Amino acid sequence: MLILGIDTSCDDTSASVVEDGTRILSNVVSSQEGIHRKYGGIVPELASRRHIEMVWPVVDEALKNADKRLEDLSAIAVCHGPGLIGSLLVGCSFAKAVCFARNIPLVSVNHLEGHIFSCFLDRTEGGGMPELYQRVPQFPFIALIVSGGHTSLYRVDGFGRYTELGRTRDDAAGEAYDKVSKLLGLGYPGGPAIDKFAGEGDPEKVNFPRAYLPNDLDFSFSGLKTSVLNYLRKIRGGEMSTLFSDSGLSTISDELLKDICASFQQAVIDVLVRKTEWAMKRERITAAAVSGGVGANSSLRKELALMAERNGFTLFIPPVYLCTDNAAMISAAGYHHFVSGRTAGVDLNPVAYLLL
Ligand code: KG4
Ligand code: ZN
Repeated sequence: MLILGIDTSCDDTSASVVEDGTRILSNVVSSQEGIHRKYGGIVPELASRRHIEMVWPVVDEALKNADKRLEDLSAIAVCHGPGLIGSLLVGCSFAKAVCFARNIPLVSVNHLEGHIFSCFLDRTEGGGMPELYQRVPQFPFIALIVSGGHTSLYRVDGFGRYTELGRTRDDAAGEAYDKVSKLLGLGYPGGPAIDKFAGEGDPEKVNFPRAYLPNDLDFSFSGLKTSVLNYLRKIRGGEMSTLFSDSGLSTISDELLKDICASFQQAVIDVLVRKTEWAMKRERITAAAVSGGVGANSSLRKELALMAERNGFTLFIPPVYLCTDNAAMISAAGYHHFVSGRTAGVDLNPVAYLLL
């Protein structure tokens, strides 16, 4: 069964052809990083306009790379939320038009469900920690979704059976990375840049706060972000604007910059790992699946693997290219909707704030 997935929920236009919910035949992602970088974050209107330009070329390339045509498809699965509404409208309208014109069944997929299903995709690529890629999770498992828009823990008892255990009360972890990166002058997106610098810094240099919120599986990262801001103000003895010289270059040493990145990253990771461990113990579940852009973080991957090893738990993390937004995960979740007979109609309407 062949499902074409389409994701235009945020700033990447992506299309993918997946066989039987697991085997990736193609996965094309057109990034908009270059467009948004100079603004230090995503500009929603520019994102929608770029999706309009890219959606057909990206779908066409995905079909060509898979050596398939529209008539070979069993269904088209499109992400209908959560996300930026203008961006979602482009993908949904496009998918509806193609399905209507070519009489192809349409399936709608929640982006968060897509992230969870990235753990069920083909594990032949990835590098790094191959043992994590070779198996797929068995139900029940704990899902940690950690991205630019979400940081949540779910109990997953089966396809479509999700119980939210906790979520962020303010910023998502990826959002904290992006905001701190902006403060440090490291640009957008912040995760990969901070990850790189953190690898060369001392994580114990600054003791940034960890919001453990006792007896609760919710998260909070806005205090950490403010704490980094206050630290930077303190070391500069005044306003943030003095962190950068007129040339735009940071006036703190490279060494300190790396130490701040490492210390910030450690504070994020400590909370994510500890809360995942608590969730698993509380629910008496021994498997966890991690997904979302921050799941690409090298230290988070290592520390989660160590936590799992310490407890005798099993951990599933997709390869890095399936942690960040992609349409293969939409195809994978869409496959399950389609085989269960849950198709969408031409009245499908995207929703910006959509719960799982
Ligand atoms: O899942 P994703 O591609 O989009 C959303 O659904 O939000 O996640 C994007 C987020 C961004 O905030 C980005 O900074 C973060 O994932 N990210 C990382 C890394 N790579 C991407 N955060 C930490 N370390 C990374 N290596
Ligand atoms: Zn995402």
